[in-house]
Amino acid sequence: MPSCTQSQPDPAAARPTKRLRAAVIGLGVGEAHVAGYQGHEACDVVALCDFSRERLETVGAKFPGIELRDSADAVLDDPDIDVVSIASYDNYHYEHIVRAIANDKHVFVEKPLCLTEGQATHIRQLLGAQPSVKLSSNLILRQCPRFIALKERIEHGDFGELFLLEGHYEYGRLHKITEGWRGAIDFYSVVYGGAIHLIDLMLWLTGDDVVEVAAFGNQIASRGTQFKYNDTVVAALKFAGGVVGKVGVSYGCVRPHFHELKVCGTKATFINGDPHGLLYESRDPNVAPTPVTQPYPGASKGALIEGFIDAILEDAEPPVGKEDVFRTMSVCLAIEKAAATGTTCPVRCIE
Ligand SMILES: NC(=O)c1ccc[n+]([C@@H]2O[C@H](COP(=O)([O-])OP(=O)(O)OC[C@H]3O[C@@H](n4cnc5c(N)ncnc54)[C@H](O)[C@@H]3O)[C@@H](O)[C@H]2O)c1
Repeated sequence: MPSCTQSQPDPAAARPTKRLRAAVIGLGVGEAHVAGYQGHEACDVVALCDFSRERLETVGAKFPGIELRDSADAVLDDPDIDVVSIASYDNYHYEHIVRAIANDKHVFVEKPLCLTEGQATHIRQLLGAQPSVKLSSNLILRQCPRFIALKERIEHGDFGELFLLEGHYEYGRLHKITEGWRGAIDFYSVVYGGAIHLIDLMLWLTGDDVVEVAAFGNQIASRGTQFKYNDTVVAALKFAGGVVGKVGVSYGCVRPHFHELKVCGTKATFINGDPHGLLYESRDPNVAPTPVTQPYPGASKGALIEGFIDAILEDAEPPVGKEDVFRTMSVCLAIEKAAATGTTCPVRCIE
């Protein structure tokens, strides 16, 4: 009679771990995605794609053995690819996402998700019809160690009750809209391209929804160039729980790239700074604020990908889940509309 204690082979241990096959479309910031996928033990990058032959060959030379393709469709239609990074120009994101979902691929899309409410609604419907497809977006400030520590302090109660958040995205690279694709495509939004990071950060830090916005913009810094849209936008935000906020973006500011952030609670105030932030825990001018020294920005542009791959393998929500992506996009859409129409706009859920 066999002993009950006799060790049996563990079928789970014998089962090969599923490996995912990834591809990256667009090899600007997309190059950092490659490293993100390659850093995951269960993922192989099998194809790189760029419609610029020169960029494809230059970046491809750094990754020998990975197939190079100059057509996004050749990636999106390939049944052997499980997950695709979409890091093409903003105006291609929607069509690439639609094709990827139709072909049952998981999608990690650069921000912005898309350019219109209609596109966002359609993507939402497609995902609803294919719940096994995971979608995430590169809202990378959530990986910043300084902001992670800030969120932990908020959740721990160190700030008391939050009442005001302010963020401003200083782009520091005006030439990217006055020259290059951002100023050449039919429509480019500095809200979707820049402010989106701070909007997502504010939603994440508060855990709350923005329900209404007002916004103004101008185009002074890029006047007389190829760029035809607001290069600066400032918006007032009303959160569902009573917090108010201000978010701005300026592609023309004369200073290096920086994410200004101020978080005010009844017990403390945080102000991001360079090289370190400041934490005020007193109104007394004789009490010095505490330097906040965790790294900023402190994360590579591919840092969200490991969690995204884990989410696919475990059938869980990624660190930036699809609900987060739609919530952030819906606030961006409302701000763009408010700035264009000069009215306050409700934030409409993308359904
Ligand atoms: N999350 C972030 O922090 C972050 C940072 C930079 C850029 N981005 C986003 O990444 C995207 C690309 O921006 P970038 O700065 O890398 O631009 P980029 O010009 O440096 O690189 C984009 C590359 O994609 C290629 N490309 C564009 N459309 C393509 C298509 N349809 N098919 C194949 N190749 C295509 C271009 O030839 C180019 O080589 C944008 O959507 C941008 O908003 C996000």
